[in-house]
Amino acid sequence: MSRAVLITGVAGGIGAATAKLFARERWQVIGIDCCAPTGDIPLARFIHADLGDPAVFEQLFAEVKEAAGHLDALVNNAAVQVCKRLIETTLDEWDTLMNVNLRATFLTMKHAHPLLRQPGAAVVNIGSVHALATSMSITAYAASKGGVAALTRAAALEFAASGIRVNGINPGAVDTPMLESGLRRGDLVGSGTAELRRRLGNATPLGRVGLPEEIAKAVLFLADAEMSPFITGQFITVDGGALARLSTE
Ligand code: NAI
Repeated sequence: MSRAVLITGVAGGIGAATAKLFARERWQVIGIDCCAPTGDIPLARFIHADLGDPAVFEQLFAEVKEAAGHLDALVNNAAVQVCKRLIETTLDEWDTLMNVNLRATFLTMKHAHPLLRQPGAAVVNIGSVHALATSMSITAYAASKGGVAALTRAAALEFAASGIRVNGINPGAVDTPMLESGLRRGDLVGSGTAELRRRLGNATPLGRVGLPEEIAKAVLFLADAEMSPFITGQFITVDGGALARLSTE
């Protein structure tokens, strides 16, 4: 019987690449997003939902249960970005971002827990290098990803009793629609996005920005009980070496 994975934000760059890789590895993929996926993403079921709305979760997980019965993996990937400084960020922007990036990660794990296979299932939360070091004009996003890191560790301890592992990935700059809009943020404007992407790549030790497929492979590693059975409460940073370099260098 094939294994089942639930992926949030499946219509986005990293979500779609992750869905494709899992499907290639013969997982049954259930995808959630507030936007319809474009292109050819091999989903067993797509569920349209706004994860920022806590009222959707009960019905949402009834559908997941009906579609898959059980889950072998959950990938919390959906997120939004607000590219503003702290003093410019409105309360509405803060709340909307926290509700999607952090509260939905909590609610998804809470509602998925009864469906996750015990033992053997795994949760993979997508964080960011911004949980560890950050830049100007991305305050709420950085705070939300710090929260995802702490939530991941706390859930790992709690879910270990059921034999469920909980880990995360901290991507660096990855070529997706989110990176594209982030490149246009206040302190980086001036050149076109192609030039900004090239400069970002050049500033990365491996000389380029990452590809969504490169994040997907790390997600699969942490999701698959055969590949990472003794890893829980950890984050893998996939950033081309960006965090390894001192900013004072
Ligand atoms: P993306 O913008 O291409 O995809 C995000 C997806 O989440 C979109 O399909 C969007 O519709 C969905 N989404 C947003 N709000 C939602 C809501 N309320 N309900 C349901 N779905 C919602 O972004 P990307 O780059 O693929 O990001 C995926 C993950 O990777 C995110 O957690 C992001 O923070 C993280 N990340 C991305 C980096 C990058 O450079 N692209 C770097 C570090 C982390």
